[in-house]
Amino acid sequence: MDEAGAAASLVASRAAVVADAIDHIFDDLLIVPDDPRRRLYEAMRHAAIGGGKRLRPLLVAATCELFNVSAESAVRVGLAVECIHVYSLVHDDLPAMDNDDVRRGKSTVHKAFDEATAILAGDCLHDLAFEILVDEATHGDPFVRCELVRALAIASGPAGMAGGQMMDLEAERASFDLPTVTRLQQLKTGALISFCVEAGAILGRVAPEGRRGLHGYARDIGLAFQIADDLLDVEGDAELAGKTLGKDAAAGKETFVSLLGVERAREQGRLLVEQAKAHLHGFGVEADLLRAIADYIVKRDR
Ligand code: IPE
Ligand code: IPE
Ligand code: MG
Ligand code: MG
Ligand code: MG
Repeated sequence: MDEAGAAASLVASRAAVVADAIDHIFDDLLIVPDDPRRRLYEAMRHAAIGGGKRLRPLLVAATCELFNVSAESAVRVGLAVECIHVYSLVHDDLPAMDNDDVRRGKSTVHKAFDEATAILAGDCLHDLAFEILVDEATHGDPFVRCELVRALAIASGPAGMAGGQMMDLEAERASFDLPTVTRLQQLKTGALISFCVEAGAILGRVAPEGRRGLHGYARDIGLAFQIADDLLDVEGDAELAGKTLGKDAAAGKETFVSLLGVERAREQGRLLVEQAKAHLHGFGVEADLLRAIADYIVKRDR
């Protein structure tokens, strides 16, 4: 097997283990009560269990490996960020936003249930993220837990994912230039991806100067990830992606692809991945999974 093939199979095998763990914990946490809240729990389960690449929990696990963080801490923080991610997808798919019918190869939550239930299921997944982080099982040191909560709150709110979503909606009306689209994508997608890497450093109690290379890595793969998402929207296979494609152009949305064209966007993604890996030069083989994830991000077909 060549180097690229070995990296892809490393990511696939590790992602499968992480995905299995995430599904099991969600299954244990989201027990459907025998009362009128049943529908809410069923909607949360529909959104959270099964499907999805679980890339964010994998990134947390990969970064934790650099600093000998326990597997329990890594999986719980990965679960928390996946809760935020899934909530963001449930709300992103609502008629008020992208109005999508399919997500992860299944009906979107508002289609399988209804809009009000989808809003509440998203809200509750958001809350669950922080409930998981503040639990002692996540980390014994309350200062570490506090730092995680602060970082995830910032990455999710107006200076992170939600702010990026606002800019993304504006992108349907305004014609943004490349720096503005870059900022939009950094917030919408990059902030949560950066949190995953930052969380490994927080759990590993790494001093700020020791985090610089990781910050550069995270910023570059975050942008590369969104370029790949925009490319998939233009030329991907909807069956494999598990969602409706071609939506960005139909909505008249400026993306990296609309501004740069397919070829230059793809080239930009490749450059960002090389740059991301260069930021890891201070690490040895323990960072091979992070390097493989960077390669996977632009080669993925879903
Ligand atoms: C899709 O994220 C939404 C974006 C932030 C671009 P993913 O491509 O990670 O979706 P799942 O988790 O695999 O479904
Ligand atoms: C959604 O971006 C990003 C978030 C949910 C924060 P997109 O709207 O491009 O994601 P897809 O293409 O629907 O997965
Ligand atoms: Mg959207
Ligand atoms: Mg969408
Ligand atoms: Mg998209």
